[in-house]
Amino acid sequence: MRKSHVLLDRDFTIGTTDPRLFGAFIEHLGRCVYGGIFEPGHPTADAKGFRQDVMALVRELAPTIMRYPGGNFVSGYNWEDGVGPVAERPARLDYAWFSTEPNTFGTNEFIDWCRATGIEPMLAVNLGTRGPQDAGYFVEYCNHPGGTHYSELRKRHGWTEPHGVKFWCLGNEMDGPWQTGAKTATEYGRIAAEAAKIMRWADSSIQLAACGSSGRNMDTFGAWEQTVLDHTFDHVEWISLHTYLNNYAADTPAFLASPDLMDSFIEEVVAIADAAAARRRSGKRIMLSFDEWNVWYRTRRPRENRVKPGWPVAPPILEEIYNMQDALAFGGACISLLNHADRVRCACLAQLVNVIAPIMTETGGPAWRQTIFHPFAQMSRLGRGAVLRTQIESDTYSAAYYDPRALTDPPIPMPAVPYLKFSAVRNDDGGLSLFALNRDLRDGMTLEVDIRGFGGLRVAEATSLHHSDLDAINSKDSPDNVSPQPLAGVVVNGATLAAELPPASWTVISLRPG
Ligand code: AHR
Repeated sequence: MRKSHVLLDRDFTIGTTDPRLFGAFIEHLGRCVYGGIFEPGHPTADAKGFRQDVMALVRELAPTIMRYPGGNFVSGYNWEDGVGPVAERPARLDYAWFSTEPNTFGTNEFIDWCRATGIEPMLAVNLGTRGPQDAGYFVEYCNHPGGTHYSELRKRHGWTEPHGVKFWCLGNEMDGPWQTGAKTATEYGRIAAEAAKIMRWADSSIQLAACGSSGRNMDTFGAWEQTVLDHTFDHVEWISLHTYLNNYAADTPAFLASPDLMDSFIEEVVAIADAAAARRRSGKRIMLSFDEWNVWYRTRRPRENRVKPGWPVAPPILEEIYNMQDALAFGGACISLLNHADRVRCACLAQLVNVIAPIMTETGGPAWRQTIFHPFAQMSRLGRGAVLRTQIESDTYSAAYYDPRALTDPPIPMPAVPYLKFSAVRNDDGGLSLFALNRDLRDGMTLEVDIRGFGGLRVAEATSLHHSDLDAINSKDSPDNVSPQPLAGVVVNGATLAAELPPASWTVISLRPG
């Protein structure tokens, strides 16, 4: 049995989690919209075509903000195609995913879906094939009360009240050669700054996110952020980060170590953003929007895994089936986000349904939870509050993580990966929630936590996600094969908590006052 020890104090905090840290993402991609959240004719669909079985799972998952409509899709999207009478909307070729976009679901339907689920909408504008003026018109259509061309158009379309969308993304992954209308950092920085000016003139209450790098492994990472912020620093509140963890190398220890590279990525982007502030002698702090993160590799490469011939509507692409070890790496990513709550104030799990998603559906059939559903739902439910500083003692191991975009590079050496990855959140009711990843595949781990300054806590909930088969999955016929199980033997004795973490496990312990 391995040993670990954590020291924390109720008053030593990193920051308070912003509700938007628990966001997700809906893109017009594969069966995320069509056959996912929206399926007129499905037995559970309401009058608007929204699947109620999916909605029930979304409520349980509890994302707080939803990014839409892309992703790569947005860089070729005309938002006007998706509003107005459905019969008059054009079908278009989608160059991002080589499919046909029928446009029977668009911005207003998305807003209605968000209202029905109680989720804040987040919109992205197209800075690939379009520019600042169209972005401004889109803000006017959504947020202007009335009396202008686009606000009156929204009213004629049936939405008399403004949508009041607050969070806007200035394009998507504009550093990526795969992006429709990809740009250099200077080209993007200029267009993003000009789009931001017009969008904010249209509605001064909005917040804007500039595109950061689409991965830490991009050749331009670092220089991209610096140049983009040189142009946009005065015009944006946010810079974005994207990461998809992988196990291409079938190296589970390295895969489970890889969330630690998210920590590095976050800290590096914070340094670059603060350097931009320092050069201006500015007290402004650009916040980080980690608006795409997940595990994704099986359905990513080669291209045939992503593209179905014949320009189909809503093809079943990127339908990653997540296993037990994916859920562990995913849980590690949750901990990375929580532990940077001071600067990562927004994050979006990519994506929500069917496409690299926590929720799967069968068209015409049932919906079920993938393995990764559980860590996210637990983080969203119990991760609200002040994230505490922790001093962790844990044995370490060395790993080498293979990052596929850098095909010619050797794997990234990770010489001292703690077996324990851990986060603690002091909840608003005075309780304490603990999130622990045991990365030891063979041995269980004793966890001892000194919970200084907390009096009279009792164990309200203790569960572990683990399975003897790290390749175990959930499926339509076996939807709960991998799901959190009660963890016995968690004891609070005065100011010390003791637990035993199973090998290769994700454990959540919730302590409540009284
Ligand atoms: O989430 C899938 C895709 O991954 C998104 O469209 C894109 O932004 C990223 O490369």
